[in-house]
Amino acid sequence: MGSARHAGPDSERLDRLIAHGLGWTRSAAQKAIRRCRVTIDDVWVRDPATKVAPKAQVKVEDRVVPRLDRTVLMMNKQAGSVSANVDASERTVMEDLPEPLRRDDLRIVGRLDKDTTGLLLLTNDGDLLHRLTHPRHGIEKTYGLTFEGTLDGDSAARFEAGLTLDDGTQCAPAHITFTGPDAAEVLVHEGKYHQVKRMIAAIGGRVITLERTRMGPLVLDADLQRGQTRPLTEGEIEALDQAVSPSAGVAGSSPGHRVSHERRLEDGEQP
Ligand code: URA
Repeated sequence: MGSARHAGPDSERLDRLIAHGLGWTRSAAQKAIRRCRVTIDDVWVRDPATKVAPKAQVKVEDRVVPRLDRTVLMMNKQAGSVSANVDASERTVMEDLPEPLRRDDLRIVGRLDKDTTGLLLLTNDGDLLHRLTHPRHGIEKTYGLTFEGTLDGDSAARFEAGLTLDDGTQCAPAHITFTGPDAAEVLVHEGKYHQVKRMIAAIGGRVITLERTRMGPLVLDADLQRGQTRPLTEGEIEALDQAVSPSAGVAGSSPGHRVSHERRLEDGEQP
């Protein structure tokens, strides 16, 4: 096949390229490919995972798919900046970007509170953003925190069972490990409003500092100072793509949970 002949380390997955280039969902791109509507350099392809070389031309029927550059940045967010593109009164994480990395099409993947620090992703890839934040994929996030107060003795079991927050909101099963007398690491698969702070409040504590250290396969780069940002490496992007690919498992959740959730959403395609 023509694409395979040219495929190399800079190649991009066909379904992802179409989704990014046309602003489609990945499943819409996959459908078009499977229905034999897509060519690479005028050769029909039917496998959404086909790798496309950088100079190859992709068409959906007669429409050329623009090859948009894809940016994914890792920031070590500093406390004091708000997770917003613009804000009338507060400093935003976008203002923390050095000039060469600033661009208007960047979006924030999973906001952090103003006082939360750590791993924040910024991207111009709408499909990736959707996949990283959609509950279907249950991307695991790890937070390190310090707290005050005396926590309930059965905190860990309550996390595992799925906490009920003070306002009655039900959380999915999560995990807490105590790393010191007033420090813990929390793993969650969802991103409810102030989730970790509210979870700690539900077990009798108050969060003092909160830092996101991991998101799916990505670990906060220890060499990034607070407020600093760098583009992801090819390897990190590949790992992220794998984590959100339709065939990826959901780390830490039971297979039964994942399958039933997946089915519900796949039928209707769009959430
Ligand atoms: N949970 C919170 O409470 N705050 C954050 O910023 C992230 C997760």
